[in-house]
Amino acid sequence: MATDYDELGAQYLLTKSLPWKHFTERYTFFKAVGEVRGLQLLDVACGEGFYSRQFRDAGAEVVGVDISCEMIRLAKEKEAQQSKGIRYEVADATALAQFVEQTGLKHFDLAVAEWLLDYADTLEMLRQMCRSLASVVKPGGRFIHLGGCFDSIFNHPETFPFYGIELEILNSGGDGSRCRWTVSADGESVSAENTMWTPATITTELEAAGFTDVQWPAAEIGAKGIETMGQDYWLEYLKHPYHAVTTATRLENF
Ligand SMILES: C[S@@+](CC[C@H](N)C(=O)[O-])C[C@H]1O[C@@H](n2cnc3c(N)ncnc32)[C@H](O)[C@@H]1O
Repeated sequence: MATDYDELGAQYLLTKSLPWKHFTERYTFFKAVGEVRGLQLLDVACGEGFYSRQFRDAGAEVVGVDISCEMIRLAKEKEAQQSKGIRYEVADATALAQFVEQTGLKHFDLAVAEWLLDYADTLEMLRQMCRSLASVVKPGGRFIHLGGCFDSIFNHPETFPFYGIELEILNSGGDGSRCRWTVSADGESVSAENTMWTPATITTELEAAGFTDVQWPAAEIGAKGIETMGQDYWLEYLKHPYHAVTTATRLENF
């Protein structure tokens, strides 16, 4: 499967400069993930390792995989510059069972993915990703996803220019709706397309794949985010957050 990310490469990091990325995306995601010390963690769609490194710093044993050779090249380059003991490999999120078998890795206590399910172009691909994720998480282990909020993106796109995202709705009308986002900073811009799935469909597919207790914790702002940007800055974001976090637990017997 082709992704834009072989071409985007390091440009993607431009998005990380946006305040919402740090003060609410990261905050809500890490709160949902919780304590990771000592856990075997698989970071799926790890990109250049932005979150993999943070999970490693928090004490997890981390393997990062991404379908983009360029993203993995960048992740390995950073690992070579500052070794943290993270293993990075090219792998497709729809075929993780084969990846684990071929590499001799064990199953994981925790699989995380940031902005992965939004790259499932078809319902079949979404289904394969969910099954594939379930196949590498230990019974009782967890999967935490960070992706786009379907309702905000398609019903309230006017919210996002203020927060640094230009959104073009390519088609809308339920599952499989598509959008293109563009982030600009310091005279540069980065842009990519996403296919979006409703929470109901993601929940159904995760449950069908062997996950239970699927939850969608609300976006929150950390104290630092309020101190730095002011309470008023976040009012519209909290009504219509761009991001959505999903948590699920692998069934013991499936
Ligand atoms: C928006 S980037 C997020 C990168 C990283 N998780 C982060 O938040 O910094 C999405 C990533 O998903 C990867 N990706 C898309 N489809 C994938 C697939 N089928 N399997 C593995 N990675 C995939 C892309 O190559 C890209 O690196």
